[in-house]
Amino acid sequence: MGRKVTKAIFPVAGLGTRFLPATKSIPKEILSLVDKPLIQYAIDEARAAGIEEFIFVTSRGKGALEDYFDHAHELESSLRKSGKDKLLDILRGTNMDSGAIAYIRQHKALGLGHAVWCARRLLQEDEPFAVVLTDDVIQGEPPCLQQMIEAYEETGGSMVATMEVPTEKVSAYGVLDVAEDMGAIVRAKGMVEKPAAGTQPSNLAVIGRYILAPTVMQNLNKLKQGAGGEIQLTDAIADEIAEGRDVFGLRFRGQRFDCGSKAGFLQATVAFGLERDDLKDEFADYLAEVVAMRRAAE
Ligand code: G1P
Repeated sequence: MGRKVTKAIFPVAGLGTRFLPATKSIPKEILSLVDKPLIQYAIDEARAAGIEEFIFVTSRGKGALEDYFDHAHELESSLRKSGKDKLLDILRGTNMDSGAIAYIRQHKALGLGHAVWCARRLLQEDEPFAVVLTDDVIQGEPPCLQQMIEAYEETGGSMVATMEVPTEKVSAYGVLDVAEDMGAIVRAKGMVEKPAAGTQPSNLAVIGRYILAPTVMQNLNKLKQGAGGEIQLTDAIADEIAEGRDVFGLRFRGQRFDCGSKAGFLQATVAFGLERDDLKDEFADYLAEVVAMRRAAE
């Protein structure tokens, strides 16, 4: 078994222009599904997987994201005084230990690989690490990153989350070239970022959860430009394979929502709303009504 993975990098420097005007004054990672910000879903998943140190790669205009992790002492004491214990628990659930969070700036938007590389000095040279993309929200039990850590403890190497996507969508993703399909786990013989339509090696797309060997960070040191002129994380992982190291994909169990798109965000809102005991009955009735009304109008 390899070294335990205790650090995760969260690249959160993106401008979130797809969600303007909402993202004019708040970072997109603060946008919420029901009542929980995207960043909190990512943190909760990482904590469940045993992550202890959280590295955020931010940029200008992300102040609200840093503030989000401050302890809200006044709010806590007012909830305590008024006996609102449930809310107090929810609030405390967002508290992070002092020193567990680090913020690093990405000064130029040079790509996902570059964002991850910005965190290099916060990792030891021989330390594997996780990367979590907050746009990909995954409903799963156990949570996706935990499934990956468990699989990684068996395989070693590097591991990416993966799922089959329709052919017409595959060029929006990093895509695996499969050497060996073992069911839940596949061994990759290549990886390509955003392949042109018709050139994809498979329909197995990389989803935003990674457990990476320290050598991936060394590969990123080359700062090689890839698809779209950006420094791609996918290329640094593909270099691992080229250099003879193992890279696996895990077909995780769970439902993934692309919260980087409006349609995906709405779908996630519905899914998480329906999961909530305090909302699901009323919400399900409403949805059934909407569907019936649409049918009747057709
Ligand atoms: C990024 C990665 C891509 C991956 C995707 C998953 O792309 O570069 O390899 O498949 O996330 O969501 P982006 O969505 O930032 O274009």
